Amino acid sequence: MNKEKGKILITGGLGFIGSHTVVELQNEGFEVVIIDDLSNSKIEVLDGITSITGIKPEFVQLDLKVKQKVTEFFKNHQIEGVIHFAASKAVGESVEQPLKYYENNISTLVYLLQEMAKNEVNRFIFSSSCTVYGQADELPITEKAPIKLAESPYGNTKQIGEEIINDTTRVGNLQAIALRYFNPIGAHKSVKIGELPIGVPQNLIPFVTQTAAGIRQELSVFGDDYPTHDGTAVRDYIHVVDLAKAHIAALKRLISGENKEKMEFFNVGTGKGSSVLDVIKAFEKVSNKKLNYKIVGRREGDITSAYADTSFANKELGWQTKLDLEDALASAWKWQLKQK
Ligand code: WQD
Repeated sequence: MNKEKGKILITGGLGFIGSHTVVELQNEGFEVVIIDDLSNSKIEVLDGITSITGIKPEFVQLDLKVKQKVTEFFKNHQIEGVIHFAASKAVGESVEQPLKYYENNISTLVYLLQEMAKNEVNRFIFSSSCTVYGQADELPITEKAPIKLAESPYGNTKQIGEEIINDTTRVGNLQAIALRYFNPIGAHKSVKIGELPIGVPQNLIPFVTQTAAGIRQELSVFGDDYPTHDGTAVRDYIHVVDLAKAHIAALKRLISGENKEKMEFFNVGTGKGSSVLDVIKAFEKVSNKKLNYKIVGRREGDITSAYADTSFANKELGWQTKLDLEDALASAWKWQLKQK
């Protein structure tokens, strides 16, 4: 362990993207400590991480909504930087339960930033989302694309979160990077960690793999009347390991002081758009399985198309994706086959 690098706090570190980022941090010699409240993750993920890297991460089960607990945590840990994943993320659920989302995604961010300021922890990476752009006017989407009125409380918490951080960097020593994810998919090649949707999957890929595994009857394709090459909606599906590595690049940028603004924003995607039917075709190829699906009406709130212009992240972070859609789908399928 390289002590001089100091401890990195990963909130939500037992979640899908968080756990893959912990693995990459440990691979790079960072000492990590995970905070997770286990509300949308499983403690077994800790063993999965340990079995990949051989290093059991320090873990603190803690609800970030309890301000006193956050205060105590920072009193007991010397933290060099924070990567903040912990948040509720289901778009549909956020429409039904807005206050749950504002409490869980906003109050926790405020408490975290308050304790960081008090303890002079000045490096912060925020899990944001391309959802802040809504349906962008121009594709591919650059970081200069206008922020559009959020279509869901979930998306609004990402926009508000970015603004809270931005305002905070103006008054103290905080240096921050918001990574605006496109669509994270796939699983670690070791098949020891991956996506663990609880209940009926809201996102496309877990629903595809569960349908192929016979857990779901058939996939509903939400609309084939979009103005796209085949009528189904287009997204930028990025392998979760490539996404995890973008966090390492962002953290190194802040530690080395190479950031050019007190708060920076990066679109993190592959730069390639794939339609739902493209995904189905690619999945059938990598799994050698025929997928049972039917076309139904559009899902409320869905946009037509989103894929990233990654040139700013490629240039400034020195990062780019190495894995493609088929790699990600193959890893998601291998992970699905391992689930009981
Ligand atoms: C992808 C495409 C659906 C399910 C959201 C959030 C984003 C991030 C990822 C949290 C769309 C279609 C889906 C299904 C389908 N949030 N689809 N049948 O909506 O692009 O992004 O989740 O991490 O911030 O906005 O992702 O996977 O739900 O949908 O046809 O059963 O697949 O219509 O076109 P989305 P998704």
